[in-house]
Amino acid sequence: MRSSVLLTSALAAGAIAGPIERRKVYTETQVTVETITVYIPSSSAPSSSATPTSSAVPTTTVAPTTSAAPTTTAAPTSSSSSQAAAATSSSALAYGVTHTSGTVQATFHEGDEYKNSVLWHHNRARANHGASNLEWSDECESAAQTAAAYCDFEHHVVDGQGQNLFTTSGDAYNVTAGITDSWYKGEADIYTWWGEEPPHSSSDSASLDMETFEKYGHTTQMLWKSTTSVGCVTIDCGSKMTVSGASSTMGKYTVCNYSPPGNYVGEFAKNVAAPSGAYSGYSWSD
Ligand SMILES: *[C@@H]1O[C@H](CO)[C@@H](O)[C@H](O)[C@H]1NC(C)=O
Repeated sequence: MRSSVLLTSALAAGAIAGPIERRKVYTETQVTVETITVYIPSSSAPSSSATPTSSAVPTTTVAPTTSAAPTTTAAPTSSSSSQAAAATSSSALAYGVTHTSGTVQATFHEGDEYKNSVLWHHNRARANHGASNLEWSDECESAAQTAAAYCDFEHHVVDGQGQNLFTTSGDAYNVTAGITDSWYKGEADIYTWWGEEPPHSSSDSASLDMETFEKYGHTTQMLWKSTTSVGCVTIDCGSKMTVSGASSTMGKYTVCNYSPPGNYVGEFAKNVAAPSGAYSGYSWSD
C-alpha cells in the first residue's frame, strides 16, 4: 500500500530529526481521498504508552466559545483597489480580509484576489468553530509551491507545516469550492467528534483510525484552533498531472500548507470545536 511506504519513510525521517515523536497526519482530497500519516518531533511526552493522553496539554476547555467574531488582530487587508471595491458584504472584515465574491472565484489562482478568497473561505469556516482568523504565510506558500510543482497529488511536506491537497478537472481552478464545499462542508457534515478525540485505531491506540480520518482530516486541519497561518498555491499542471501514479486530467491543482500544523493525535478536543451556527448555506461562490 502506497501510504504504508510513505509512512515508513516519514517515520525514519522523524526518528532522525528528533528523539521524541508526536503523531501527525496530513490530508488530501479530490474525487477519492487519500491520506498519509507522518510523525514530527515534539517536546511532549512520547506516545508509546497505550493511552494517547498527551500529558503536556490540558484537555479541559472543550466547549466551543460562541463568540461570533474572532477577536484576534485581522490580517492586513491587501487593498487591491478594484477588487476591494468589488467585494460585497460589510461584514467581510469579520474574516480578516475583503474578497471578491461570486463565481469569478473559480478562476482565481494567483495574486491578491486569490489569497483573499483563500483566507476568507478558511476564516468564515473557522469563525463558525471559535477559531481565529488565519493570516497568509509566505513560508507556507513557498513550501506549497515546492509541493505543487511535482504535479503528482502526493504530499511533500516540511517540518512544522500541515498540508491539504485538492485537485480538479475542467477549466476552472475552483479553489474556493475545494475549501468550502469539499474540505469544510463535505467533511463537517460527517464529523461527529466536536470537542472530543476522534476514533483511534483498534490495533494501535496511539494512532487515529485512518479509515475515519480520511473522511474528515481536511476540515479538522482547516478548523484547528492552534493553526494561525496558511499559504496556498494553485496551478495548472496540464498533461503533466498524475494521481496515484497514473496520468490524470485533474490538472487544476491546489496545495495549502498550514502553520502550526493541526491534526495532532490527542489534541483534537481542544482544537476542533462544534459549529456555533448552520453552515449549510455556505457556498464556494460566496
Ligand atoms: C466549482 O465547484 C462547484 C462546486 O463543486 C461547482 O458547482 C461549480 O460548477 C464549479 N465551477 C466551475 C467553473 O467549474
